[in-house]
Amino acid sequence: MAANHRTAPRYAHVVGWGMAVPDRVLTNLDLEAIVDTSDTWIRERTGIRERRIAGEDESTASLSFAAARQALEVADVLPSELDMIIVATSTPEHIFPSTASLIQDWLGASTAGAFDLSAACTGFIYALNMAAQAIISGSIDTALVVGAETMSRLLDWEDRTTCILFGDGAGAVVVRGSEMPGGVLSNVLRSDGSGCDLLGVPTVGSRDAAVPDAGLPRDGTRPPMHKMYMNGREVFRFATRVMKDSVLEAVEKAGLTMDDIDWIVPHQANQRIIARAAKNLNLPEERFISNLDRYGNTSAASIPIALCEAVNDGRIQPEQYLVLVGFGGGLTWGAMVLQWGVAGPAEQTAIKRYRREFSYTVARTRSRFSRTLRRLAELLNRSPLGGLYRFFDRLPHDASDQEGSS
Ligand code: ACO
Repeated sequence: MAANHRTAPRYAHVVGWGMAVPDRVLTNLDLEAIVDTSDTWIRERTGIRERRIAGEDESTASLSFAAARQALEVADVLPSELDMIIVATSTPEHIFPSTASLIQDWLGASTAGAFDLSAACTGFIYALNMAAQAIISGSIDTALVVGAETMSRLLDWEDRTTCILFGDGAGAVVVRGSEMPGGVLSNVLRSDGSGCDLLGVPTVGSRDAAVPDAGLPRDGTRPPMHKMYMNGREVFRFATRVMKDSVLEAVEKAGLTMDDIDWIVPHQANQRIIARAAKNLNLPEERFISNLDRYGNTSAASIPIALCEAVNDGRIQPEQYLVLVGFGGGLTWGAMVLQWGVAGPAEQTAIKRYRREFSYTVARTRSRFSRTLRRLAELLNRSPLGGLYRFFDRLPHDASDQEGSS
C-alpha cells in the first residue's frame, strides 16, 4: 500500500493483461436455427460472424478469474501485492456478494479491497479510471481491473434484434503506480439517465414489493423479466455521436492531437458504428481495433479483450498513444487516453510464478477451511456446550448482545 502524501507526480501504467473466452462457438448459421435471421443479414448489419457462449460450468466469475490470472502472470505481480480489485460487469455472479470479492478470494489477494462496478458496456473504462485515479492519488499502488460478462444468460433467445449481437468473455489488466510519465493520461466519463429506457434488463429491484415472475406475457406492454431489451436504432445514433465527442475531448484533455493517436480501442458493438465513428473522426477504419467478427458484443469485456489481442499480436507497441472509448446502457459513455508500455515489460521471475500458483491453491483450501470452521463454531455455539464455548471463545458479538439486553 502506498503512502497517502506524495510529492512526486504519480502515473498509473497498465503492466499486465489477459483474456478468457468460452470454448463454445455460436456461429451465425447456428443462429439461423434459433431465430428468423440469416448469416448475411448479421454480417452486413453488424460485422459479427460468431460469438462465444459460456458452458454450464462457466460464469462471469470463472472467466474473470482466468483472465485475471493471465494479467498477473504478464505483470509478474503476486495476488498479495494487489490493493484493489474491480470487476466491471452487468452480469455479476450474484446481486451480492460482488464478483470481485469472489475473485479476491480465489486469487488469495488477502490485502485487496474488492467491488463490482455497473456501467454496462462502458464499465471497463469507468473501472480502469477509478483504479488509475486511486493510484495517481497515492492511496494505492496496484490494482486489478476486470471487464467480464456472460450476456448469453440474459438474452431473450426469441428476440432476433438482440440475441444475435452478444457474446461472453472477460478481459483483465493490472495497473501499477510509477513516477515514470505515461499510462492513463486523461478520461471523460458521462451518463444520461434519460436514456434508461433504451436498453436494459428488468429484474428484481427495490421497486418490487414481491419477486415478480420470470415469464410475463409477451403482450408488448413491457419487456420480459430478466431478459435484455434494446432500442437498436436509437442506441446506434447515440453511439456514433458520443464516440466522436468523447474521443476528441479525451485527446484534448491529454494535451495531444488526433495526429498523435496510434490506435482507438472501441467498445465492440457493431462494425457499422466503428465505421461511422472513423468517418466522423476523419480516421481510417484500420486504426480502430476490431474483433467483433469473432466475439460479437461482450459488453464490459469487449475493450479489454480487444486491447489484449492487439498487444499480444504486436499491433500495439510501447510508447504508442491509445484511446479507449465505450458506450452503453445507462446511458453511459466514456473515453480515456493511455500511453502504452512506457514502464517496459515485467521481468518474469520463476519464484513469483510458483508463489502465484501456491496462492491460488492455498486460497481455495483456506476459504473452505474458514467456512467449515465458521459452521462448526455456529453449531457449537447453539449446542448445550454453547455457554462453555462462549466463555472460552469470548466472541465479541456475545459481549455486545449482553450489553444490548442489559
Ligand atoms: N435478422 C434479420 N432481420 C432482422 C434482424 C435479424 N437478426 N434484426 C432486425 N431485423 C429486421 C428488422 O425487423 C427490420 O425489419 P423491417 O424493416 O421489416 O421492420 C430490419 O431488419 C431493419 O431493422 P433495424 O432495427 O433498422 O436494423 P439496423 O440496421 O438498425 O440494425 C442493430 C439493428 C444491429 C441492432 C443496430 O441498430 C445496432 O447495432 N444498434 C446498436 C446496438 C448496440 O450497440 N447495442 C449495444 C449497446 S451496449 C450495452 O450497454 C449492452
